[in-house]
Amino acid sequence: MTLLKDASAKKPLRGAIIGYGFISGKGHIPAYLERAKNRGDVEIIAIADICEGRRNLAQETLPQARIYSDYQALLNAESAHLDFVDISTPPCDHAAIAHAAFDKGLHVLCEKPLTTTLEEARSLLEHAMRAKRVLFPCHNYKHAPVVKAIREIIDSGKIGKVRSLTLNTYRNTHAKGVTEWKTNWRREKKYSGGGIAMDHGSHTFYLTFDWLGSYPTAVTAKMTNLEPGKYDTEDNFTAVLTFPTGIAHSHLTWTAGVRKVMYTVQGERGAITVDDDDLQLAVMEATGGADVAQGAVRWNVEKRSIASNWMDASHVSWFNSLFDQFQAAIEKGEFVGKEARESYLCIQLITTAYRSAQEGCRELPLATEVPVQA
Ligand SMILES: NC(=O)c1ccc[n+]([C@@H]2O[C@H](COP(=O)([O-])OP(=O)(O)OC[C@H]3O[C@@H](n4cnc5c(N)ncnc54)[C@H](O)[C@@H]3O)[C@@H](O)[C@H]2O)c1
Repeated sequence: MTLLKDASAKKPLRGAIIGYGFISGKGHIPAYLERAKNRGDVEIIAIADICEGRRNLAQETLPQARIYSDYQALLNAESAHLDFVDISTPPCDHAAIAHAAFDKGLHVLCEKPLTTTLEEARSLLEHAMRAKRVLFPCHNYKHAPVVKAIREIIDSGKIGKVRSLTLNTYRNTHAKGVTEWKTNWRREKKYSGGGIAMDHGSHTFYLTFDWLGSYPTAVTAKMTNLEPGKYDTEDNFTAVLTFPTGIAHSHLTWTAGVRKVMYTVQGERGAITVDDDDLQLAVMEATGGADVAQGAVRWNVEKRSIASNWMDASHVSWFNSLFDQFQAAIEKGEFVGKEARESYLCIQLITTAYRSAQEGCRELPLATEVPVQA
């Protein structure tokens, strides 16, 4: 007797990974394997990496996958059996690989930063629309449990409209790539396109868009490089962003001697403070008493700890929540959705901030529209 397959079961999305380094090896692939086992809706059939040592490790991890030394060779041989590519190489190659994947009719999941220049970002968004294929950036910080809790508090209205933000990201070193390839590529502009702002700025900036509920209209920035003889990218970066709804101050550093994030979200009636997993919500209480100094204001303070695995830089536990969004965008035919448009705005912000810093912190305007028709 033949058993009929469950007609409601989703056909697995068949993917290829370009770049078997830290993020794909420790973050994406373990999450895909878990998903394949538990939900059966994804399958990784091929991997390309230019480094032989990484290709050998990839074959050990995924013995069934076909391994290539060149992404174009992979696309030529495999695209007929593929639905998407996952781009996990350094940023200098994101645009070329994504264009090649769209040319083969594939959807693209791309690590941040989307590209290293605004021209590349714009041309990728346009190509996704032309090819009618999804372009989706890995904006994974939105999927951290404590960040989801911030969203819920803002939605609850408890702190009123958000007016001011601070986002501080402290690191005890520049993020390192796998040792088999070029572990310090983030400190070489030709691979990374910039330092900590190019590397981490997207996370900071898409969170500001989300929390302030609008897009920035201007930026002023300052940066420094504590090892100028050795590296050509910045390791410390500070920016102030002006929004129609408020302001945001961000500081990113690779030389803090500690790894942590500290965020404050300040609204009309209250404020949220996040220190890694620790979240404090302070809501202003209306007070009768005399309006003297600070004694006249009482805050109702609530503290929680929300395990978010901040110390695991692969953020493997956030990945499948992000992949659900990518899968939904494919199902809906949302080729250049909100996340893709915001990845463009992040690149605009980072590249404009670099110009501001080079021009003595001159405040520079930002466009709030993405010049690509949805
Ligand atoms: N979203 C996050 O939280 C997060 C965290 C870490 C890294 N990332 C991003 O992931 C990407 C990769 O970073 P990483 O830390 O994994 O770097 P990595 O150096 O560990 O890995 C990069 C891999 O890509 C390979 N490679 C380089 N150029 C290639 C090409 N043209 N074709 C095929 N393979 C190529 C290298 O051999 C290496 O194995 C970057 O864009 C980075 O910003 C994101």
